[in-house]
Parts: sequence; C-alpha cells; structure tokens
Amino acid sequence: MSETVQIIIEGKEYEFPVVEGSEQEKAIDISKLRAQTGYITLDYGFKNTGSTKSAITYLDGENGILRYRGYSIEELAEKASFVEVAFLLIYGELPNKKQLDYFQDSITQHTLVHENMKRFFEAFPQGAHPMGMLSSMISSLSTFYPESQNPDRSVVDIEKTIHRLIAKLPTLAAQAYKHNMGHPTVYPSNDLGYCGNFLKMMFSLPTEDYEVDPVVESAINKLLILHADHEQNCSTSTVRVVGSSQANLYSSVSAGIAALWGPLHGGANQAVIEMLESIREDGGDLQKWIDKAKDKNDSFRLMGFGHRVYKNFDPRARIIKKAADEVLEQLGVDDPVLDIAKKLEQVALNDSYFVERGLYPNVDFYSGIIYRALNIPTDMFTVMFALGRLPGWIAQWKEMVENREPIGRPRQVFTGSNERSFVGLSDRD
Ligand code: SDX
Repeated sequence: MSETVQIIIEGKEYEFPVVEGSEQEKAIDISKLRAQTGYITLDYGFKNTGSTKSAITYLDGENGILRYRGYSIEELAEKASFVEVAFLLIYGELPNKKQLDYFQDSITQHTLVHENMKRFFEAFPQGAHPMGMLSSMISSLSTFYPESQNPDRSVVDIEKTIHRLIAKLPTLAAQAYKHNMGHPTVYPSNDLGYCGNFLKMMFSLPTEDYEVDPVVESAINKLLILHADHEQNCSTSTVRVVGSSQANLYSSVSAGIAALWGPLHGGANQAVIEMLESIREDGGDLQKWIDKAKDKNDSFRLMGFGHRVYKNFDPRARIIKKAADEVLEQLGVDDPVLDIAKKLEQVALNDSYFVERGLYPNVDFYSGIIYRALNIPTDMFTVMFALGRLPGWIAQWKEMVENREPIGRPRQVFTGSNERSFVGLSDRD
C-alpha cells in the first residue's frame, strides 16, 4: 500500500499519494488537486515544487552532495574527461572504449559550422555580449538542420542533433570571442580533444598557432565537468519547458542560454569578478561591502554567495577553490583578486547574517578567478558555464521527450480587476 497524505479543505478530507525517490526524497503528488478540490498551490520561484521525476542528477543541499547518474562530482572531476561525463549524463552510463571512440569521432565530424554563420557574426556590433550572440547562433542552427524541427523526433534525428550541438557550441563560442577581438575565425582542429580544440579556436592567431598547455586544458576539462548538470535549476527548467512544446533542441538550448545569462544564475561568475574588482578599486574595505550585502535597502548582493539548494556548502565551490590555488601556482599567476575572494569568504562565513541564512560560496564564486588566469575575458565567463552545462541541458531535454511529459503550463491566482464594461474614449477621465 503506497503512502498517502490527507489534506482537509473547507472541512472535507482529501487524500493524495506520496512519491518517494531512490534517495528517499518524498513528494506529494498533487496532479489531481484542482480536479478534486478546485484549489491550486502557489509557490513563487517553485522553491517547494517538483516539476518532474529525473534519474540524471542528485543534489543533497544539506550535506553538499552532487552526483551525476550516481557518480560523485569529486570522483568525476578528478578521474573523467568532459566528453565521458557528457556521454554519462546523456545516455546514463559511463561509455566503454568503443562507445567513447564513436561518440568522440562523431563530435569531431560535426565541429564545423555553416560558412553563412560568419555573416551573422559580422552583423553584431563589436563588443556584443557573447551570451547574446551565442543564444542567437544556437537557435539559428535549427534553420540549417530542418530535420531537427521534426516534432515526432525520431531517435536518429535526436542523436544527430545532440552530436551536432555538442560539437558546434565550442566553435560558435570561440567565434563570438574572435568577433569581439577583431580576429579572424579559427577553424576546428580535428586532431585535438574537445577542450584543446576549443582553446586553439580561442587563442590561435594567423601570426602564431596556439600550443595547447596541458595545465590549461586540464583546468578547462575540470571546470566543464563541474558545470555539466545541476538538476532542475533555472536554465535547465527553461530548456525542459521550451522543449515540452515540441520545440526543437537547438531552440530549447538557446532559451537555456538566455536564462543562464542572468546575474542571479550563470551570469554570477562574471558579476563576482566585477564585484571583487570593485572592492579592490574601492580600497578593499571588506566589511563595508559585507554590510551593503546585509542592508535590505541596498540592492547589492554578495555575488557568488548563496544557493537555492545548497544551504551548507556547494561541493563544486570547494573543488574550484582548490583548483584555483593549483592552476594559479602552476601558471605562475599572482592574482590579488583571489586573495580578496578568500578574505571575503572568511569575513562572510563569520557573520551571523550569512550563516543563519545558509549563504556559502557557490560554483560561481571562484570559477572566474581560474578563467582570468587562463586569459579568458570576463564577458566569456558565462559562455564557459554554458559550454559545461550543455550536456546537462541535453540530457534533461532528452529525458523529458522520452518520458513524453506534458507541455509545461503552470496555473495562477488572478488578482486583477473583476468584470467591468467598456468605456468609450470620450467618457474616460
Ligand atoms: C547558480 O539552482 C542552481 O542549481 C543554480 C546553479 C547551477 O549550477 O545551475 O548552482 C548556478 O545559479 C548559482 C547561484 C549564482 N548566483 C549568485 O551567486 C547571485 C547571488 N546569490 C543570490 O542572489 C541567491 O542566493 C540565489 C539567487 C542564488 C538564491 O536565491 P533564493 O534561493 O531565492 O534565496 P533568497 O533570494 O530568497 O534569499 C534568502 C535570504 C534573503 O534574505 P531574507 O529575506 O531572508 O532576509 O538570503 C538573502 C536574501 O536577501 N540572500 C543574500 C544573498 N543570497 C541570498 N543576501 C546577500 N547576498 C546574497 N548573495
């Protein structure tokens, strides 16, 4: 007999089933609430609302646990390649050698983008934010591959679209960077791995070929893995809802890129560095900025701090903080902003305002410091987040499609005017 809960509404008792997940998380299934009671629930920001059942990523916010398909983020960040993790998220298992070779080869075959897309970049103003360019470019991929628009979504079309998307995102990301640098496009090098190829497309010049630095390549690999998925976050929920209308994968991911851009979400990694540089330019008075973050009359927030789920620590932030020390030492980079970040973390974590609210450094707090050391410009930081999150978006979209989930369409509580008659222009005040 499955567990149920009783809800009493206007003196009448209603019973609803309880759903229990594989990690003993429990939910009340209210899919029949309105039909049985006429009531809906109201939950701003869906803080207490599950939108789906998913087998992809497990988070435990209280204990700082993050697992992709059951594997801990700590193990994957240390032992896996990003392409292996992408395969794991999308297909559910770590690939064997044959599967990994096929996946890698297929991605390599699709790294080029249609030459017409160069003209799109030429139309953007110099200095256009790369996230705006990337979201447009990814959506326009659907026009070059119309079979991706097929609502019946055959397995073959989905597979090809997935491989094309994973292959082309780095190419388009690097092109956005080159557009703003005023440099010519660098074409993909099929003899390099996923991260090395991206670095070469970013940093090669007609005058000088970029030699892939293994330290940099390893850091990028780790950072992409750490960002690869995070269950039903804002941008992933966006991808799922857009895809639930039978929109194609390119358009769904384009919408996810737009959602990720926001400074409260993936845009925070750029906002953190801008905040740390402001603190440095302002003389480094950390307490002044901590007090601003606590002041309800001040819109300033400590960027890179706090999380909807992690109310203790974000395991990714711990890994990135350690990696920041290692990468900067290996590259011989001395970044005063890293020292400010560490001191700011200490001051905040000894302040009751942050401790009482469970506000700890999140994935975005230290990642920008590594990107700076790798000579990636600040406005490309969220693009790096998107590169990492792509396989998670794809996996979640694919799970939604395979589970034939209904179109996402929340209800509302109406608070506007009651019925009233039309008033002619001459009769209005
Ligand atoms: C990402 O969801 C995911 O999984 C996201 C992500 C992923 O991998 O996809 O992990 C990536 O988006 C990480 C978060 C990056 N964003 C930032 O670093 C921006 C700064 N942080 C926030 O604005 C905030 O903490 C959020 C958006 C991350 C979470 O916001 P919530 O869960 O809606 O919490 P809230 O805004 O209701 O805050 C609760 C309290 C409030 O104070 P009180 O009203 O209780 O007095 O905490 C305060 C907030 O004012 N608060 C902060 C704060 N974050 C929350 N106060 C100062 N500085 C902050 N950063």
